[in-house]
Amino acid sequence: MVTPEYNHSHPASVKNAIDWHYTEWRAEPVGFVSSGGISGGLRAVEHLRHVFAELHAVSVRDTVSFHDAGRQFDAAGQPADPEMPAVAADKLLGQLVWWGRALRSARAEHPYPA
Ligand SMILES: Cc1cc2nc3c(=O)[nH]c(=O)nc-3n(C[C@H](O)[C@H](O)[C@H](O)COP(=O)(O)O)c2cc1C
Repeated sequence: MVTPEYNHSHPASVKNAIDWHYTEWRAEPVGFVSSGGISGGLRAVEHLRHVFAELHAVSVRDTVSFHDAGRQFDAAGQPADPEMPAVAADKLLGQLVWWGRALRSARAEHPYPA
């Protein structure tokens, strides 16, 4: 999920996109990329973890977050300082793949008891 943060949470458009689906999220991993002002969108991410718990999805611990997002990208939309987001993305994707594999095996072995 990619989300900005407005008034300490995710925007309604992100929630609406999530709510279009229900069983599709079940026993699937979810990773977050966020942007915001001083918080980098981390409060929006923490609110989304509650939403995904209700949907039986597993939210991945590490995130990629862009603090002071207005200054973090050049005119071409590329990160002004790519090193930090690259390290964070590596962790996020590693955990997303780990959970994806683990959950796929678990779903194949036992039907999820929703
Ligand atoms: C109405 C409004 C509320 C905002 N609230 C927050 C906030 O609570 N926390 C935060 O980190 N950034 C906040 N921001 C900054 C936005 O997250 C930031 O502008 C955004 O990440 C960049 O996307 P944008 O181009 O859609 O504004 C707010 C911005 C606006 C316009």
